[in-house]
Amino acid sequence: MESLRVELGSRSYPIHIGASLIGSRELYAPHLGGGGAAIVTNVVVAPLFLEAVKRASGARAEIVLEDGEQAKSWRGVERVVDGLLAARLGRDGLVIALGGGVIGDLAGFAAAVYQRGVPFVQVPTTLLAQVDSSVGGKTAINHPLGKNMIGAFHQPRAVIADVATLDTLPERELRAGLAEVIKHGLALDAPFFDWLESNIDALVKRERGALGYAVKKSCELKARIVAADEQETGERALLNLGHTFGHAIEAGTGYGAWLHGEAVAAGMVMAAELSALMGHLKKTDVGRVRDLLRRAGLPIAGPALAPERLMALMSLDKKAAQGRTRFVVLEAIGRAALRADVDDAQVRRAVVAAGQ
Ligand code: NAD
Ligand code: GLY
Repeated sequence: MESLRVELGSRSYPIHIGASLIGSRELYAPHLGGGGAAIVTNVVVAPLFLEAVKRASGARAEIVLEDGEQAKSWRGVERVVDGLLAARLGRDGLVIALGGGVIGDLAGFAAAVYQRGVPFVQVPTTLLAQVDSSVGGKTAINHPLGKNMIGAFHQPRAVIADVATLDTLPERELRAGLAEVIKHGLALDAPFFDWLESNIDALVKRERGALGYAVKKSCELKARIVAADEQETGERALLNLGHTFGHAIEAGTGYGAWLHGEAVAAGMVMAAELSALMGHLKKTDVGRVRDLLRRAGLPIAGPALAPERLMALMSLDKKAAQGRTRFVVLEAIGRAALRADVDDAQVRRAVVAAGQ
């Protein structure tokens, strides 16, 4: 097992990474106050891992939700809160989020508001959750008018990332998680991007050593950014590489048709093309980005949507944010930067260059 730390003063916390960790009592014990624990999970994850986590944490209640993004709703929050109240969990209790990013975001948000905030521990069981959503304290539910529109920053007390849980993950979900791993190398760390080029086949084959390293490296990079810019007033926005395009792809195709990681993959190709058009990134590096994503089994072109439609969706996003869209562009592989001086014609050309 390897342990990292997210340095946030009195709210600092460990990230434990390794195989077969979810049943380790000693990882939960430091976070159990006198009030016991309640586990929030879903119907897919519960049959796989609930018993092990229950035994190790001594949790006295479990709240098992339906599978899918729709759980990130007010109804989902109500169900969690109902369960916590039924279990008489007090402010000295602990919420354990066991599952992918949906459960982590929902349970984290419920923990942020239940009795004005109770501690929680993330036990992520998807690659996306282990490398991204379980670290950094962003918690949220969706509104019919937009994803993650209701939320809170609420840091977990610990993250327990057990790579053995990834054995049962559907292939497509694993590949979607790899998109966020690649994003970390591409935006922040050229040697990690090189390592991914050499090890992508091992990752797709779920070799434990390779997965453990990719999770550790991603968490290290994300922990550093979160420590420097917890509430995304600057540097943390670099983690949104490919996301402006990706959100438009998700919205334009109807949420759920493309997995988030798939949309981010095509979005990173668009961001790379944009960076080349702006004269920052070499054309050969755009080729490296495409090759790596393709070898990970991810889309490297956009959906069959008119570029104008994607542009309109991006500008809707811009209106929602009440300002200019700031794009994350690449100055080189491993070096992302935030730019507001991007004109629409260049963005359109980048979408066309990425292809369909
Ligand atoms: P998810 O939670 O829906 O999990 C994907 C699927 O895998 C689900 O069907 C789930 O039940 C199943 N599953 C989970 N673990 C499994 C396992 N070990 N074996 C078999 N099946 C398993 O999706 P996700 O990709 O993990 O997370 C997506 C969510 O994360 C979105 O709501 C997104 O908004 C959010 N997110 C949040 C942040 C953040 O910083 N908070 C960052 C990125 C994404
Ligand atoms: N997933 C981007 C962030 O946590 O900031």
